[in-house]
Amino acid sequence: MSPVPAATDSSSRQITVTEHLLLHQKKSPEASGVFTQLLYDLILAAKLIARSVNKAGLLDVLGGTGETNVQGEHVQKLDEFANRILIHRMERSGALCAMASEENADLISIPRQFAKGDYILIFDPLDGSSNIDVNINVGTIFSILRRISPREEEVTLGDVLQPGYQQVGAGYVLYGPSTMLVYTTGHGVHGFTLDPSVGEFLLSHAKITIPANGNIYSVNEGNLFYWNEATARAIASFKSRENPGKKPYSLRYVGSLVADFHRTLFYGGIFMYPLDYKNREKPRGKLRLLCEASPMAFLAEQAGGAASDGEQRILDIVPQELHQRVPLYVGAKEDVDFVTALLREG
Ligand code: AHG
Ligand code: MN
Ligand code: MN
Repeated sequence: MSPVPAATDSSSRQITVTEHLLLHQKKSPEASGVFTQLLYDLILAAKLIARSVNKAGLLDVLGGTGETNVQGEHVQKLDEFANRILIHRMERSGALCAMASEENADLISIPRQFAKGDYILIFDPLDGSSNIDVNINVGTIFSILRRISPREEEVTLGDVLQPGYQQVGAGYVLYGPSTMLVYTTGHGVHGFTLDPSVGEFLLSHAKITIPANGNIYSVNEGNLFYWNEATARAIASFKSRENPGKKPYSLRYVGSLVADFHRTLFYGGIFMYPLDYKNREKPRGKLRLLCEASPMAFLAEQAGGAASDGEQRILDIVPQELHQRVPLYVGAKEDVDFVTALLREG
């Protein structure tokens, strides 16, 4: 396993996210003041969520609410809490014309009294909910698009159902032993670690690239019974010598996409959530295209990796509906290309 790239050495200037974005000012129209403000507000929301995640055991935010969301999943109190924090903070940012959340059935409009911008924020407010009560890493995932309809018109679903290659920004916050923000605006992937003593995310991992020969595969093997033949065969290849690493891989699976993806970003290998036939009539992936697969695919490609749905590049998929689910194969390019070729053969 290749060593995790050393965090940017401490002697380097303590670079904040906003400072880092401004460094890109010349390179990308997205690093405009409005975009920087968007990210600044997103970071504030993440700090508020981090504070509650870190004290979850002491606050009444553990456990379920007893409700199920549009995904038909049990809503955890922290899911709802994180969702409320993000909507409250971001509707005031002045950068957005609409939002979409994994927890909300429909588009979230910006109330009249707040200034609007041209960006659309799509998010999974809390990813890895099943791990909250046992103190295992959870995260927040976000994706940023620019509206395509004229400013004077109402935002429509058409503004949101854009293919992933249209994203102008994407990233996640990982709440764990340290709270990390990892983001891209199309100029590489950069990691920031929250310094709680100053309340700032400081650059700790500049220009993250996925190492080759990671030799880790990450999948919920408990779903073997629900995979088709081709999928079972493709995944079995990582337990043999018939794979890019030419030897059996190690299996690591946290069950929080953000945590499994973050490890893949630093250690290489591949994360897979295949199509499964739990629902025989409607075989589908579990992960959501807009708020999980697409942002992770943008990050993976920006880090020199790849992401497919087992057939095509995730970033080329034109979404048909807000909560569309897809199979996801993401990680080191040689591993993703290898398994995608096997699945295409069938
Ligand atoms: P969420 O908590 O936002 O619903 O996401 C959970 C997802 C993802 O984080 C993870 O990769 C996957 O569910 C794990 O699913 P299984 O428990 O079926 O393996
Ligand atoms: Mn999720
Ligand atoms: Mn979630």
